[in-house]
Amino acid sequence: MQNFISVNDVSNINALVEKALAYKANPFKDKALGVGKRIGLLFLNPSLRTRLSTQVAAANLGMDAIVFNVDKEGWALEFEEGAIMSGNTVEHIKDAAPVLGSYFDILCIRTFPGLQNRTDDYSELYISQFIKYCGVPVISLESATLHPLQSLTDIITITENWRQSITIRKPKVVLTWAPHVKALPQCVANSFSQWVNAWGEADFVITHPEDYELSTEFTNGAAITTHQDEALKDADFVYVKNWSTYTDYGKIYENDPEWMLTDEKLKLTNNARVMHCLPVRRNVELSDEVLDGTHSIVTQQAGNRVWAAQAVIHSILTSK
Ligand code: CP
Repeated sequence: MQNFISVNDVSNINALVEKALAYKANPFKDKALGVGKRIGLLFLNPSLRTRLSTQVAAANLGMDAIVFNVDKEGWALEFEEGAIMSGNTVEHIKDAAPVLGSYFDILCIRTFPGLQNRTDDYSELYISQFIKYCGVPVISLESATLHPLQSLTDIITITENWRQSITIRKPKVVLTWAPHVKALPQCVANSFSQWVNAWGEADFVITHPEDYELSTEFTNGAAITTHQDEALKDADFVYVKNWSTYTDYGKIYENDPEWMLTDEKLKLTNNARVMHCLPVRRNVELSDEVLDGTHSIVTQQAGNRVWAAQAVIHSILTSK
């Protein structure tokens, strides 16, 4: 693996999932692999899980991890080629990225979308420029359109729970839109859709209100319905996530509380496990009763972030 930006960087999803689960069983088995190597974690946006799980994963492999909150502590970066830097940006990525590449063996970066201009966000300029100029492998810690470490974690979590159920058929996995008070990126929903479709080991249904269609680049292969009740019927896993509009970009049209998942709605499912990437707005996106009840596997899911990151770092360190 050269970089980890999307599912397209993974040759065998199940093999990567098994590698992650082997680390969950034995976290320190490759402790010598990363000794003498450094991983840099660059954040242009906030994080709890991604930051700490990647640091723990690197430490489990013997690596030194250094976190840099670029947005708060670094120079304001310019990403546009040919920019006349007479405004607020102080350092071009062409100059900063190779310097960072000389300090680290792997660089990781989190860059959220601006949600103002869809073409700009979906061009993934920031992470592309980083890869172009840094000269070392890059891991996405969530980019403008995708969150691959989260999605790998999600498949790991579905795999380990489904295995326990000892059922032969494919699980029915439902991604449901949920209300939120802010316009959020489509990254987690895009990425989850992309990974589940590429994985091919689930009956996958996406449900959202009208006008919340995601890009077909990521959803092709899933069944899509605007009827949440219909989607939830017999579901084995329900992934809850808000996203803002894609077509009329970055808007909130509807915040219908009826879309919040409740225990009553879960009666339609096959005793479904409930997932969310966190952070979650309680009693807006997901009810207390669901989050604190027996259906929720969100803490297990967040815990698995370590093993996903460890499997990816291992794959990069051992690639030629
Ligand atoms: N799920 C997730 O990426 O969490 P953080 O934003 O806290 O890293």
